[in-house]
Amino acid sequence: METKNIFSESGIIITLLLIAIPIIVASILVIIKAYAAINQFIKRKRLNEFNEYVKGLTPAEIEKLEQRKRELEFVLSNNELSGEATPIDSKGLIDHISDVESLRFIEQKKKSLPRPYIEPKLTKLILWYLGCATFWLLFGTTVGEYLGIKFVAPDVDHFSWLSFGRLRPVHTNAVFWGWASLAMIGLAYYVIPRVSNVPIASIKTGYRSLVLINASVILGSICLMAGINNGGGEYREYIWPVMALFGIGVIISLRNFFKTIAKRTTKEIYVSNWYIISAMMFLLVIAVVAYWPSWQTGLGETIVQGYYMHQGVGMWFMLFNLGLMYYFLPQQLNKPIYSYSLGILAFWAQILFYTLIGTHHFIFSAIPWWLQTVAIVGSAGMIIPVVAGTTNFLMTFKGSWHKLSGSYTLPFYLIGIIFYFTGSLQGTAEAFRFTNLVWHFTDFTVAHSHLTMYGIICFMLWGFIYTLVPRLTGKEPPQITVGAHFWLALIGLLFYTFPLMYGSTLRGLMWMEGTKSFIESVELMAPYWLWRAIGGSLMWLSHILFAYNFYVMVKRKEEIIIPTSPIEILKAKQELNTQSPTH
Ligand code: HEM
Ligand code: HEM
Repeated sequence: METKNIFSESGIIITLLLIAIPIIVASILVIIKAYAAINQFIKRKRLNEFNEYVKGLTPAEIEKLEQRKRELEFVLSNNELSGEATPIDSKGLIDHISDVESLRFIEQKKKSLPRPYIEPKLTKLILWYLGCATFWLLFGTTVGEYLGIKFVAPDVDHFSWLSFGRLRPVHTNAVFWGWASLAMIGLAYYVIPRVSNVPIASIKTGYRSLVLINASVILGSICLMAGINNGGGEYREYIWPVMALFGIGVIISLRNFFKTIAKRTTKEIYVSNWYIISAMMFLLVIAVVAYWPSWQTGLGETIVQGYYMHQGVGMWFMLFNLGLMYYFLPQQLNKPIYSYSLGILAFWAQILFYTLIGTHHFIFSAIPWWLQTVAIVGSAGMIIPVVAGTTNFLMTFKGSWHKLSGSYTLPFYLIGIIFYFTGSLQGTAEAFRFTNLVWHFTDFTVAHSHLTMYGIICFMLWGFIYTLVPRLTGKEPPQITVGAHFWLALIGLLFYTFPLMYGSTLRGLMWMEGTKSFIESVELMAPYWLWRAIGGSLMWLSHILFAYNFYVMVKRKEEIIIPTSPIEILKAKQELNTQSPTH
């Protein structure tokens, strides 16, 4: 019979351990007690020796000890420097020593700087742009949220107007043309005249442009939901008359900006204006290429589609936001941009490479192989402007990192810059033939779209809006809701994108293996789509907070502030005195 060692039985091992524990604890206690007893014995012996020594002290030795006692007991009176005068802070150097007005759950961030003089009419125009943009962000991402839910619950509704195929372009076009574009143009209405040091050429034109762009997004969304669209070309699903409204809106604002820059009183055209003006010029080229009817057939249309998609994101959104960053970052850090020439290098390298890379959307398609290779090489070349731009921004931050913890706007800038680097280089990695083979038809592209359009563009725009609006209106957003907006958006984005990237890689590899059915790859994605819906919900919540913060920053009613500091109290008294003549 097989003899079994009982000490290998888990029950025995656990029992032995249970017995060993009190034995070990008891042994430790015994050692501690014995040590204490020995110590006590040694100390008692020393005390007896000491008593003998004290008994034998001579009068001279006692006098010496008393002298030393007096020396050690000497204390300063604590007014050696100030004298007996009553303390008074006649220069007002010390303030708010012990007053805590509210519970401090969050660190108090710095308030925005006192506002410079800005023409009230221009302020109103900019706020209209940003207000409309905020509306489209809420609308567009509510649709996005619903689409994300549809991946988890596909049968949630059966209305044609709310079908996935119709709502998807409603989401992408609303966030592209309604939210990001209006926010960018609105911010440019502040930056262009400011860096040109002249008033804006025409405020009326600004309103016309705003109305046209809003009309385009309203009509476009209704048409898409009704099933009226431009076919399958992504991001150009609006029919041409609708998109023409958007194009005219941009043209008239571009003309307005040209006129303003032409009248500038500065010698140089600041780099921000290079970027912003070029982005607007490129948008018109892109729109004409995308909608011109003569090449909208066959393979030519596919090449145009690739060109359009990537020029849209790269030469419109990215170029425009970089221009805004070149203004807002130095202004927020209160120092000049690290290198003006690096900014110009990044500008030209972006123009050279970005315009070549459209075909990387259709690797392994029927498009000529050499054209695909050009796009891959251009995608690798994009490393130059991305590294140059990121270096320029991070070096501008150098020496001012401490400002990050005290500011509620700078974290948005930093996240935008980090995603600019990582999101763009992720794009370079996606363009290579092998990786594209794995990822192309999967949700990896959707993760990349959100890491870039959301991580870069939205974070930058939020940072700029939180910087500018308090300066325009003199009203700060509540810092706790700005913090909550930041963290919900960031955590939501990470929940949205990382599981999608992981699941999509597994899915792509599964397809390449070729042994499993398609539906199995759909089942594989189910948990990752759930994560997307969870992440999307956090992002959506963050947008509600952003809208609330925006409302607080612009609301017309003045907050009732009861003065507390002596300066404020005296000022209030003075104001009251001047108001009532009886005083
Ligand atoms: C170095 C820069 C970049 C490179 C090389 C790059 C590369 C790529 C590639 C290869 C794809 C196609 C993936 C596929 O379909 O297989 C793609 C898609 C996409 N990229 Fe980028 N990307 C870059 C930066 C950006 C930026 C800055 C943005 C946005 C601001 C952006 C937004 C998008 C979007 C929205 C798509 C999805 C297009 C679609 O619906 O098919 N990318 N990118
Ligand atoms: C609450 C936040 C958001 C949610 C829940 C969301 C959700 C979605 C969903 C479900 C899709 C369809 C993906 C598919 O067809 O597989 C999508 C596509 C897209 N969304 Fe969003 N989205 C959000 C915010 C945004 C924002 C703010 C932007 C841009 C500013 C944006 C840009 C895009 C783009 C470019 C696509 C097309 C992706 C591609 O084809 O690769 N999204 N979004």
